Amino acid sequence: MIRHTLSFRFKDEVAEEARLAVLAELATFPDRYSAMRNWSLGQNISTRDSTFTHAMSVEFDTNEDLLAYLTADSHERFVRETWRPVIAQQAIVSYEYTERPADIVRRASELSQKPRDRAPYGMEYARIEVPDLPATIDFLQYHVGLQVEAHTDEYAYLRADLEHHSIELISAPQREIGVTTAIGFSVENDDVLAQLQKKVVAAGYQVMELQERQKSFCDSGFAVRDPNGLIVELFTEFQEYAEPPHIEIRPVDLVHPFIATTKFQESLHFYTKVLNFLPSDHIAGSTTFLRCEDRYHHSLALQNNKEHYVAHLCFAMKSLDHVMRMRARALYKGVPIASDIVNHSASTSIAFYMHDRRFGPRFELCDRHRVFTPEEHETHRARKMPADPRNIDVWRPAADDWGRF
Ligand SMILES: [Fe+2]
Repeated sequence: MIRHTLSFRFKDEVAEEARLAVLAELATFPDRYSAMRNWSLGQNISTRDSTFTHAMSVEFDTNEDLLAYLTADSHERFVRETWRPVIAQQAIVSYEYTERPADIVRRASELSQKPRDRAPYGMEYARIEVPDLPATIDFLQYHVGLQVEAHTDEYAYLRADLEHHSIELISAPQREIGVTTAIGFSVENDDVLAQLQKKVVAAGYQVMELQERQKSFCDSGFAVRDPNGLIVELFTEFQEYAEPPHIEIRPVDLVHPFIATTKFQESLHFYTKVLNFLPSDHIAGSTTFLRCEDRYHHSLALQNNKEHYVAHLCFAMKSLDHVMRMRARALYKGVPIASDIVNHSASTSIAFYMHDRRFGPRFELCDRHRVFTPEEHETHRARKMPADPRNIDVWRPAADDWGRF
């Protein structure tokens, strides 16, 4: 850890109001510079040395984080325009230190004082019934970047990264559009799986067996229908490959399903109180983002809607460049882009959405997805954000710009 300390004294002629304004601006720093940890600011109460009137202390994980803060344009502007004109004297000390083992233990025990029921670890796959299996496979290969691992006339498995599969397709010629029928989540171990199963039973839901083929890709597990009838499969030790597919432009992870539901409150209760998902943020009256133990900002989203359907599946690509290359492919082939480049504020991801109803839900391809730190994961308080397009896409200029979603 790096601790950065700043002791300072205002010039005598600086008025109280101006001093308070500078102190208030310093207090906004931890929100502006996300790498800051344990920020504090206070008045000097020492009776031995009153050279300085105030001190600020802040920590960073690495020296690079500290330097990034110090050399940020916004910080340099603050120093030039706000700080230097009012400060008579200052002393800065930055030093590296190793946290004492006893402090690490104490912090860990504080975090674990209220043991929390564990959520599933993270999303692994979606099962989609599609009217045209070969066409869907072509689409997912070319436009999403998945690799086919198994393929019969009845079904196909496609994978993004190491995990056995991210998408299972089922041939359903009787259907007119692709429909997502199940979502699969891995669970950390048998204890967590047993606890989840106990809560599912206690809440009055019926425990079902895993789909027959899925049983052979994991150690143990069970399935349950959520309040919408969507099958949720939970399992341990999902099989994985030794290396990722040899495809340059491909997703690195399937991050979340976005589920539209007519039973919003009931579904929220099911995922948070029965399956222990943690709320990350709410768009008031509309959507709740829920996270799992892999700490992605959301591994599932629920939207209050007049219909139930899995609205989209989100894949994280390796970079924004790869997102743009996939967008270029979609434009080139005339694949409908349901929502073009958006900058999601809550998950800090840039994405676009393709939608051809024959192939199932919208496919969201994003450049990254916010991952909470272990500490944030335990302490984050879900924000309530107004239903304003700028809370979904920070690149919207005004509250009424709903047009292009
Ligand atoms: Fe999404």
